[in-house]
Amino acid sequence: MAKSPDRNEAFGWAANDKSGVLSPFHFSRRENGDNDVTVKILFCGVCHSDLHIIRNEWGNARYPIIPGHEIVGIATKVGKNVTGFKEGDRVGVGVIIGSCQSCDSCHQDLENYCPQVVYTYNSPSSDGTRNQGGYSDKIVVDHRFVLRFPDGLPSDSGAPLLCSGITVYSPMKYYGMAEGKGKHLGVSGLGGLGHIAVKIGKAFGLKVTVISRSPEKEREAIDKLGADSFLVTSDSQKMKDAIGTMDFVLDTVSADHSLMPLFSLLKVNGKLVTVGLPEKPLLLPVFPLAAGRKMVGGSMIGGMKETQEMLDFCAKHNIVADIELIKMSDINSAMERLVKSDVRYRFVIDVANSLNPAQGRL
Ligand SMILES: NC(=O)c1ccc[n+]([C@@H]2O[C@H](COP(=O)([O-])OP(=O)(O)OC[C@H]3O[C@@H](n4cnc5c(N)ncnc54)[C@H](OP(=O)(O)O)[C@@H]3O)[C@@H](O)[C@H]2O)c1
Ligand SMILES: [Zn+2]
Ligand SMILES: [Zn+2]
Repeated sequence: MAKSPDRNEAFGWAANDKSGVLSPFHFSRRENGDNDVTVKILFCGVCHSDLHIIRNEWGNARYPIIPGHEIVGIATKVGKNVTGFKEGDRVGVGVIIGSCQSCDSCHQDLENYCPQVVYTYNSPSSDGTRNQGGYSDKIVVDHRFVLRFPDGLPSDSGAPLLCSGITVYSPMKYYGMAEGKGKHLGVSGLGGLGHIAVKIGKAFGLKVTVISRSPEKEREAIDKLGADSFLVTSDSQKMKDAIGTMDFVLDTVSADHSLMPLFSLLKVNGKLVTVGLPEKPLLLPVFPLAAGRKMVGGSMIGGMKETQEMLDFCAKHNIVADIELIKMSDINSAMERLVKSDVRYRFVIDVANSLNPAQGRL
């Protein structure tokens, strides 16, 4: 049968400049190699990092860019060296798809901190082209960066765990929150990351308070997501009453904001962990840090082993994202809404049912 020898045709939606507007885009993926798994993409979550990158807010965009790193799909091809996956398996692909495999970080299952980490999109690919992400029909990934998607997790609402989930789970483990049963965690910013942090924090037995600009999120944060309490940052009396009550604050805010109130909420020896990645650097007030022997730390997604552990943990505890399922053609208005935090709490694209390769053909 006639077959194109060196092109593995693919289709997705790409941004072509810093307007970030996405439109249909035909490209090619590498052929499935001996170590690779080809994934037919079913669903892909819309992370705020996708938005930062396509609008070049981090200054590293290389267009055209197909974003998307919360990918759930079906393995349709596996290379001959792949033992962990077979055709037909439901699998996940997250934020990273490669690393050197030989540095200290890689040896400690921290591929996410490898100096040669390869991101799922907007990163150079092994064949010299640019990687493209999950707002597309398929992806070819080295099997070491493919995750087993547990049976108990739905493909659509489970997809956001592949970035949001691991981004909050990993610091909770590293900074001692996971063993902190009964301790008090503040989750700053109730968006894609924040709402998963509330659920995972509760599963770890923490007392969880949401710290938010948005009073309209209070009822559902408590009734639906399971938070114990809710602090609106503009309510100065309540913010004052909460001074010195928290052991940890996990800051997921995507835009410029003051860290001062967050430090005030911490007890002596409290830890502020920042995972939000705003466009501009945040001001670090050192007096409240020193005065309360407080600590500030960061965290970036997680390694492959821990990401699998997180998926299994979420399946066991029935933790999924609250999602709004959209069609591929809705993506530009969804991005506009994401800027305004107008989503409860993660957009997920129904890729398999709404991507139409007839679009964008010349
Ligand atoms: N470190 C990592 O590995 C990693 C991984 C994924 C994402 N991220 C970053 O984490 C951040 C959050 O991502 P996300 O997908 O959760 O975004 P998101 O869904 O847009 O949520 C961000 C939340 O931040 C709050 N917020 C937004 N603008 C604000 C402003 N001007 N001032 C104060 N609060 C504001 C809002 O919560 P309220 O309405 O409750 O205030 C909003 O819901 C992004 O910067 C993203 O790039 C980091
Ligand atoms: Zn992300
Ligand atoms: Zn490495």
